[in-house]
Amino acid sequence: MTVNYEEQIQKCKAELKAKIPDLSERFQAETSRLKAEVEQVQHEMKTRHAVVEIDFREIQQGSVDDDTISRLKRRGVVVIRNVFDPQVVEGWNNELHRYINDNHYFEKQQEKAGLDSYFGSLASSKPQIFGVYWSRAQMEARQSTELAEVRQWLNQLWRHPNPNHPEFDASVECLYADRIRQREPGDASLGLSPHVDGGSIERWIDPSFYEVYKDVYFGNLKAFDPFNAHGRVHTREIPSPAVCRMFRTYQGWTALTRQGPGDGTLNVVPITRAMAWVLLRALQDDVDDTDLCGARAGRALGITENHHQMLLDAYVPIPTVEPGDTVWWHPDVIHGVEDQHQGSEYSNVMYIGAAPRCSKNAQFLELLRPAFEQGQSSPDFAPEDYETDFSGRFTIDQLSALGRVQMGYDP
Ligand SMILES: [Fe+2]
Repeated sequence: MTVNYEEQIQKCKAELKAKIPDLSERFQAETSRLKAEVEQVQHEMKTRHAVVEIDFREIQQGSVDDDTISRLKRRGVVVIRNVFDPQVVEGWNNELHRYINDNHYFEKQQEKAGLDSYFGSLASSKPQIFGVYWSRAQMEARQSTELAEVRQWLNQLWRHPNPNHPEFDASVECLYADRIRQREPGDASLGLSPHVDGGSIERWIDPSFYEVYKDVYFGNLKAFDPFNAHGRVHTREIPSPAVCRMFRTYQGWTALTRQGPGDGTLNVVPITRAMAWVLLRALQDDVDDTDLCGARAGRALGITENHHQMLLDAYVPIPTVEPGDTVWWHPDVIHGVEDQHQGSEYSNVMYIGAAPRCSKNAQFLELLRPAFEQGQSSPDFAPEDYETDFSGRFTIDQLSALGRVQMGYDP
């Protein structure tokens, strides 16, 4: 069944505008706030980096100071350093290269071309991302106690409207099987333009998102807190291959190689509440009634020079990271991957975010377990199923006690 999204957009925009009588004042207020925030990011880039940095030991010792935490909430992006021993990570990186080459990934890719259309409408072409989900390296990292500690700490930064009935359990992770990036030095064709994951037009047309953004649309805009968990686990995304069906408190990755500005790696707009402005922006009079600043159903939400130049003035590369460092960003944060890899080494990462236990994530595990057992693609992604006959694939008997809980095999 084809859905006429233009009609829905037109209808929802009209309804939203009618329900927000002070839309113009809201947009002006948010524009001023954003302008100041963009300037602040630019200033921070000249002094220290705008992206927050924490050493894993500080988390383990419970010594992260309040100023760092409040900066983390404002910037929405954090590098947590020295999570893994660099030698372990080097082993993982080498093993992943072997896993892909020895199992003839590239030959198989030729046969399966065209299945992945998620990023099809973004300006840059497809990045060097591999549809492998079940390598030993990925699974060992996912079920590691190190990442469990990091994610538990990150998860508890979220605020729950009713602490007696939290929206999710910050202490337990659900395993989300994502892919890996292996980007060759010199690569100039494979970038990813600025975007936000986790829903595009839904943010304006699905009432489940009005709960998440109720302060932006209808309530006290200034008080909008992107770390308020209210409604976040109940959003309804338009089904599409490669749109995440889990609730993630953070997207993230673990660095397998050293990479920094210019190495074809992550760029971000380190302003967590930028989404408030993006939402109001699409409701302004210069945007067509059937348009949401170019947002397309089932695709990443693109951030464009056309409509969002102000935000892109704060689009910055992350600081250089070393093997074993990890990067985390709030699900509303605008991010992309540099078009050109001008460095001299591979720029490799394992995408591992944080998906705490809640009913939405537990439901997804029901789909994930059979895919894991068969070595099929993670059910959120194109069903390329590269690994069904891969040798060296991680198997169920290799799960640790923690891994079994994260996969939902044990309570
Ligand atoms: Fe993304």
